[in-house]
Amino acid sequence: MTSVRLAALDAPGLALDAVVVGLTAGKRDGKPELPASSGLGVGERKRLLDAVGKVAPKARAGDVIKIPGVPGIDASLVIAVVMGADVDELTPEHLRRAAGAGTMSISDLDRVGVIMPGSTPADVAAAAQGAALGAYRFESFRGTGTPRPSRGPKTITVLTESHRDRHVREAVRQAEIVSDEVCRARDLVNTPPSALHPKELAAAAIEAVAGLDVTTQILDERALKRGKFGGILAVGQGSVNTPRLIRLAYRPARSKVHVALVGKGITFDSGGLSLKPPGAMETMKMDMGGAAAVIAATAAIAKLGLPASVTTYAACAENMPSGTAQRPGDVLTTYGGRTVEVLNTDAEGRLVLADALVRAGEDAPDIIIDVATLTGAQIVALGTRISAVMSNDDDLRDDVVRSATMVGEQFWPMPLPVELRPSLDSSIADIANIGDRMGGMLTAGLFLQDFIAEGTPWAHLDIAGPAYNESDPHDYTPKGATGVAVRTLVQVVRDLADSHTA
Ligand code: BES
Ligand code: MN
Ligand code: ZN
Repeated sequence: MTSVRLAALDAPGLALDAVVVGLTAGKRDGKPELPASSGLGVGERKRLLDAVGKVAPKARAGDVIKIPGVPGIDASLVIAVVMGADVDELTPEHLRRAAGAGTMSISDLDRVGVIMPGSTPADVAAAAQGAALGAYRFESFRGTGTPRPSRGPKTITVLTESHRDRHVREAVRQAEIVSDEVCRARDLVNTPPSALHPKELAAAAIEAVAGLDVTTQILDERALKRGKFGGILAVGQGSVNTPRLIRLAYRPARSKVHVALVGKGITFDSGGLSLKPPGAMETMKMDMGGAAAVIAATAAIAKLGLPASVTTYAACAENMPSGTAQRPGDVLTTYGGRTVEVLNTDAEGRLVLADALVRAGEDAPDIIIDVATLTGAQIVALGTRISAVMSNDDDLRDDVVRSATMVGEQFWPMPLPVELRPSLDSSIADIANIGDRMGGMLTAGLFLQDFIAEGTPWAHLDIAGPAYNESDPHDYTPKGATGVAVRTLVQVVRDLADSHTA
């Protein structure tokens, strides 16, 4: 994990290998500028902008410019990142992205400084968090055969005038807790499916909250049978790697609100007997991204000591085809007794979630939020960078969008149109697991809604696209797992706790 610290711009003995500097884009011409609020002196700013002009005379928003040896800056490499905003438009997310694009571009340099405009707690924390997220690399599975690819930065030092400010230090400490947990979620999602079965995911959840004020309970296959968790069992029955239901409970002394978090934890989704084509399977280790997000968010919430009770469920199974796999046409009985006709074994996420949502309801939470890489239709609707949020409560849905925006994640409100519900009717069971293909993300949401008690506010987050970046890295988002939804969940719980104080 990359560590983060704060220092004054003129602190002696920093021995930095590189410094990332955020530039704004001039209001009229888009030319790079260096605001005074970066804390650099007039002379240093002029020398740096001159150097940028020489190396990249046409530099514009989005560019990352590497400059060796800028006079007055005590590091052999300066990485100037031009943000897509002028100094008046800057948001924390601009700072987060620029700092992350800077650290993302660095290879084989350990100690990296970050200089960004702004010195408020929110500004400095965003720079720190972006830098840490951009410094992430996943290297556990590199062998010794080929030369190792580049290493990421080891320590981030945010250079700021406000390095002594108590509020700044606290905001940075909190931002680092969250970015560490985003990186935990990324690690879990990036881990190959042969190394992360439901059993290993359960062990990782226990490890994530070790030493925190969180109790853990793991239901293995025997316990799931005893408890009649028919959805999780049916999805898991085709695999030799048996399913698990993970439960984490955080109960702080001062608690304003009780939130249940539920995550889809399919450690590999082959589609089951409704087998996916090979190409569609390539990334299906990521189908536990919802589980990773709720586990990591719970750890972050406990580390931050937020005054909210959180009960977290991760419904984990491997969806495989075999002689013991469930068949299209099977009817299963979910936890609580509702029956489902399984017409397509590739619509498995909603089956494991059905059990977990009903179980979560038994804890009588004020709110339930589930997170899942649930549908390809989510990606068709919103692409790979914007997640969807559906809810039985318009206020909660808007709250999720607002909290997400505050932390720089993109969620967009989507409806749960009742007209689509009849398409899920089964001729022999209470509900079928597939309905209208058009609006497939919404039918999936409507399916889940059947497992929510009337009167319990519930939000469903479909992160199928944003959970995994198959394209090139951008900003602080690497290739592969992104850790999406961790920051949003933490902020939602924080905001709910705050609103219950007032
Ligand atoms: N895990 C997939 C959804 C998915 C697809 C996530 C692509 C990320 C990228 C899910 O289990 C699935 O297969 N959904 C089906 C549902 C359909 C059979 C109703 C889908 O979206 O095609
Ligand atoms: Mn599937
Ligand atoms: Zn799936």
